[in-house]
Amino acid sequence: MKPSDKAPSEKALVPFVSVDHMMQLIHHIGVEEMMSGIAGYIEDDFHRWELFDKTPRVASHSEVGVIELMPTSDGEMYGFKYVNGHPKNTKEGLQTVTAFGLLANVETGYPMLLSEMTMLTALRTAATSAMVAKHLAPKGADTMAMIGNGAQSEFQTLAMKAICGLKSVRLYDIDLAATEKCAANLAAQDIKVVICKTPEEAIEGAQILTTCTADKQNATILSDNMVGSGVHINAIGGDCPGKTELAAGILQRSDIFVEYPPQTRIEGEIQQLPEDYPVTELWQVITGTAAGRTSERQITLFDSVGFAIEDFSALRYVRDQLEATGLYHALDLLADPDDPRDLFGMLQRAAPGNA
Ligand SMILES: NC(=O)c1ccc[n+]([C@@H]2O[C@H](COP(=O)([O-])OP(=O)(O)OC[C@H]3O[C@@H](n4cnc5c(N)ncnc54)[C@H](O)[C@@H]3O)[C@@H](O)[C@H]2O)c1
Repeated sequence: MKPSDKAPSEKALVPFVSVDHMMQLIHHIGVEEMMSGIAGYIEDDFHRWELFDKTPRVASHSEVGVIELMPTSDGEMYGFKYVNGHPKNTKEGLQTVTAFGLLANVETGYPMLLSEMTMLTALRTAATSAMVAKHLAPKGADTMAMIGNGAQSEFQTLAMKAICGLKSVRLYDIDLAATEKCAANLAAQDIKVVICKTPEEAIEGAQILTTCTADKQNATILSDNMVGSGVHINAIGGDCPGKTELAAGILQRSDIFVEYPPQTRIEGEIQQLPEDYPVTELWQVITGTAAGRTSERQITLFDSVGFAIEDFSALRYVRDQLEATGLYHALDLLADPDDPRDLFGMLQRAAPGNA
């Protein structure tokens, strides 16, 4: 056997979760159960918020989109996600958002998991939204307006159903084909689905208003006069400089809850407000050190942009399922020379024709 044909050693191998394995895992666990499980991991990590390394994500903007790196560490594990956002992509048969990510051992720096994260981002975003709504939405909220019926929309709906007891969703999208796709996907999911012709119709009777549109501009998906008291707004799509969904007047009438202020002030709805505008950090609501909803008439707003710790939690959840399910490939990712300092020797021994 030529040295280059040698099977990689154990130390060279990193578990890799492909899209196919991720989908098998989701079906094995159940999509609602898995989002509930991920929400539990995210909530646990929000309880440990203060010990994490935190930084606004590193964004590289172009005229058509953004590519971002999202790192964090809890001191034992390090994680990052690569993610893009390109609203024009769907017209070219590509997705707006794709992602992959990694967990590594802080002690050695060795990667422990590489995973697809396009599916996982949809699950973690929805799990975060529902976990937050559980803390902030009015008591007994069971109807949601879902404005923007693209890739994230079914996940958002089912996480709210699993975690908050949502019974009815009212769909609106500027593109009726997206709404019909979403309604068809939700048809057998044990939730009432209402197709609406306008955003005004979608928010009728809804206590949770989710905006999840994609447009590279300051859009006004909800105008000030559309939003009455006693609702929870779950604003997902405003997540980049110059990309927002809500009229500024709504922000001024709401109590605003955010993941990590230094990132949200750059990317979230609150980029429309002065830099020192008061906001509440969600981890403080979850740990009981700050108030969440304090009255029935209050408007609570989750100004979601997506933070690295949520991806870290989702990767931790996936890693904890690997042993029991075997749903991964062992990837030959790390060079493992016999003598750690003889990387060149390893290369030479692998030369073609080297017996
Ligand atoms: N906050 C987070 O953590 C997070 C995570 C993932 C994605 N996102 C953001 O969520 C948004 C949705 O992502 P996606 O993957 O579902 O995108 P998508 O392109 O699949 O779907 C977006 C939908 O919005 C619709 N839309 C655009 N303008 C609209 C308008 N004015 N009114 C109603 N509908 C409109 C489009 O027709 C499309 O169906 C994106 O902006 C994305 O960047 C945020």
